[in-house]
Amino acid sequence: MRTVAALVAALSASVASAKNIIVTVGGNTTDNATTVFDPAQVFAQPNDIVIFNFTQGNHTATQSSFANPCIFLDFTTTQHGFDSGFRNAGNGSNVTIQSVPITPDLVNKTLWFFDYNTCAQGGVGGININDSSTETLEGFVRNAVRLNGTDADDNNSSTNSNTSTTGAPRPSGTNTGNTDTGDASRQHVTWGFAAVVPLVIAAFAL
Ligand SMILES: *[C@@H]1O[C@H](CO)[C@@H](O)[C@H](O)[C@H]1NC(C)=O
Ligand SMILES: *[C@@H]1O[C@H](CO)[C@@H](O)[C@H](O)[C@H]1NC(C)=O
Ligand SMILES: *[C@@H]1O[C@H](CO)[C@@H](O)[C@H](O)[C@H]1NC(C)=O
Ligand SMILES: *[C@@H]1O[C@H](CO)[C@@H](O)[C@H](O)[C@H]1NC(C)=O
Ligand SMILES: *[C@@H]1O[C@H](CO)[C@@H](O)[C@H](O)[C@H]1NC(C)=O
Ligand SMILES: *[C@@H]1O[C@H](CO)[C@@H](O)[C@H](O)[C@H]1NC(C)=O
Ligand SMILES: *[C@@H]1O[C@H](CO)[C@@H](O)[C@H](O)[C@H]1NC(C)=O
Ligand SMILES: *[C@@H]1O[C@H](CO)[C@@H](O)[C@H](O)[C@H]1NC(C)=O
Ligand SMILES: *[C@@H]1O[C@H](CO)[C@@H](O)[C@H](O)[C@H]1NC(C)=O
Ligand SMILES: *[C@@H]1O[C@H](CO)[C@@H](O)[C@H](O)[C@H]1NC(C)=O
Ligand SMILES: *[C@@H]1O[C@H](CO)[C@@H](O)[C@H](O)[C@H]1NC(C)=O
Ligand SMILES: *[C@@H]1O[C@H](CO)[C@@H](O)[C@H](O)[C@H]1NC(C)=O
Repeated sequence: MRTVAALVAALSASVASAKNIIVTVGGNTTDNATTVFDPAQVFAQPNDIVIFNFTQGNHTATQSSFANPCIFLDFTTTQHGFDSGFRNAGNGSNVTIQSVPITPDLVNKTLWFFDYNTCAQGGVGGININDSSTETLEGFVRNAVRLNGTDADDNNSSTNSNTSTTGAPRPSGTNTGNTDTGDASRQHVTWGFAAVVPLVIAAFAL
């Protein structure tokens, strides 16, 4: 019971301080795709909302795993990730947002994400990255560039044409164009739980 009370208190505290955290998607990607998400790293507490604000160009905000930076999470794990689909903002003429609520079950989890169009050049980011863990943003960027948009575990996509139909439905699915991502149905379930962030502690600190 004490645990429940503490949880309720934690929830109340975080509700009281719930905030919107803006990640601008677009920027000037002409010279460096690592600026597509600005900032590329944000920290959010339970009940905060991370808002991707698509302001320029044609990008996605799609959740992935650390091991497979450029592949939709649903294709590489049994988890269900967020995916904005392509958002064509033009030159600021068609600004749209994608909201990602940080639900209490996401406490102590890192949410990695990428832009389908610039992932291979480092167009990636993360929510609640544990800076002390080995899974850093810099490592994630390196992974994305090294794998060049491919699956870490399978560089032969011709072996599977069944992936996209076995994944969970997408949350807001316009076409993300990644139906050709190959054999991503292999399980990497543990990745999503690997990193730990002190969200509850942070909530009490406010
Ligand atoms: C984007 O950056 C490039 C290189 O720094 C620069 O030449 C270009 O003018 C910039 N574009 C905009 C819209 O700021
Ligand atoms: C892109 O920008 C990031 C952050 O400013 C920097 O660390 C990186 O070296 C840049 N890459 C290139 C190719 O300019
Ligand atoms: C998104 O960016 C546009 C253009 O900079 C700005 O007008 C708008 O207020 C932003 N939306 C949010 C939710 O921050
Ligand atoms: C956005 O990018 C995707 C993939 O590169 C492409 O298929 C789609 O046509 C683009 N959308 C627009 C409006 O340019
Ligand atoms: C504006 O963005 C929405 C959502 O991404 C897209 O469906 C629509 O086609 C875009 N409109 C234009 C004119 O690009
Ligand atoms: C953005 O502006 C540039 C320069 O004016 C233009 O060449 C380009 O076609 C525009 N892109 C869109 C999607 O409107
Ligand atoms: C971050 O990761 C390190 C190394 O895996 C771990 O020891 C630490 O407990 C994590 N941080 C938090 C706040 O849990
Ligand atoms: C990365 O992938 C793109 C698109 O498939 C390809 O054109 C490019 O040659 C690849 N680069 C490397 C270094 O493999
Ligand atoms: C990619 O394919 C080559 C040739 O089949 C293989 O030697 C290599 O281990 C594969 N790489 C990965 C990451 O699976
Ligand atoms: C990829 O898979 C196909 C079908 O199984 C096979 O014929 C081909 O040799 C494989 N290519 C590589 C590089 O492993
Ligand atoms: C697709 O995947 C399902 C479930 O793993 C399997 O039962 C089915 O045989 C697969 N179909 C094809 C064409 O590979
Ligand atoms: C989250 O991490 C903090 C700090 O390591 C820990 O005290 C707390 O029990 C964790 N919460 C959950 C739900 O795992």
